[in-house]
Amino acid sequence: MSPVVRLPGLVDVHVHLREPGGEHKETFATGTAAALAGGVTLVLAMPNTSPPIVDERAFMEATRRAQAGARCDYALFLGATHTNAPLSPSLQRRAAGLKIYVNETFGPLRVTSLPALIAHMRQWRGPGPVAVHAEGLMVPAIVALAAMTGARVHFCHISRAAELAVIRAAKEQGLPVTCEVTPHHLWLTEQDVPRLGSFGQMRPPLATPADRDALWANLDVIDCVATDHAPHTREEKAGPAPPPGVPGLETMLPLLLTAVHEGRLTMERLVALTHTCPMAIFNLPPQPDTWVDVDLGAEWVVPEQGWHTRVDWSPFAGLHLRGRVVRTQLRGDVVYESGRVIASPGSGRDVRTTTHFTGSRQKGVTDV
Ligand code: NCD
Ligand code: ZN
Repeated sequence: MSPVVRLPGLVDVHVHLREPGGEHKETFATGTAAALAGGVTLVLAMPNTSPPIVDERAFMEATRRAQAGARCDYALFLGATHTNAPLSPSLQRRAAGLKIYVNETFGPLRVTSLPALIAHMRQWRGPGPVAVHAEGLMVPAIVALAAMTGARVHFCHISRAAELAVIRAAKEQGLPVTCEVTPHHLWLTEQDVPRLGSFGQMRPPLATPADRDALWANLDVIDCVATDHAPHTREEKAGPAPPPGVPGLETMLPLLLTAVHEGRLTMERLVALTHTCPMAIFNLPPQPDTWVDVDLGAEWVVPEQGWHTRVDWSPFAGLHLRGRVVRTQLRGDVVYESGRVIASPGSGRDVRTTTHFTGSRQKGVTDV
């Protein structure tokens, strides 16, 4: 019997759950089932849905669907547009954070105007930070705007050595910036693209082996590991215009446990990257009686299919891993065990409108 270790429930600050408008790729019910199977008990959902979550009406519709479907706890991001600053204080309070897409990616959300960027960064006062998709030269540009506006900026999916160097310098100057990296940028590189084809395409794209090595060598600058779980169907990925993005909720923790086994990461740092830092950066409330049991000795090969995510494929298929999720508990209830998701749709809670969690059945108190 190999050692079972209990970790706090993981918090994934970057997932795409596709509701509304992309239910054939993922729903709140399927994506949060994948989360629980991966030991993730709290997800922050991205706003590049269809329609995108950029106003009260869209936010309410997504909230309604999340309330009905989510099996783990969650909060929803708002998306920035050229015209929606300032977002109302009530919306800011209810959102996970404000997502600004500065670089191009899946969906139409993008802010390229400097005045709009300044307006958003000046006027955002939410409990969550401004989360920015910025690549290359846009990283120092956003650092400069953080210095100018005082906005708390969280950089999404940093993937290159030079970007990380800029973030290190910004932190050394005392600027309130944080960053996340994804498992796919830690494990895969552009050398995997010939093998993976369009199934290895995402934004930011897989980088060079030197970039990947720089992420590992600079783990001290990295605040969180987040999946950027971005499901698209096999048919879409194999089609003529494959959308960027890969699923990752069910493989993040086993990959990180493998790194612990290999001596590339300590268990303490794993918990900081996937739980403590995400909670602090996004001002998230504790989840009592919430944990994940992992079997540190389990050896397995990542399969092609058999996943809980609706798209049922993985860019990590074929990797040999060491460590596996055995059981997940959320607020006192076992919600995943031995391959089976037990939590029902609607049992997850919105952590921005529920001020405390006392016992698994008690209704939360809303502050809106
Ligand atoms: C994401 C998606 O599919 O929604 N795709 C991706 O390649 N990461 C969008 C995003 O996070 O940029
Ligand atoms: Zn994303």
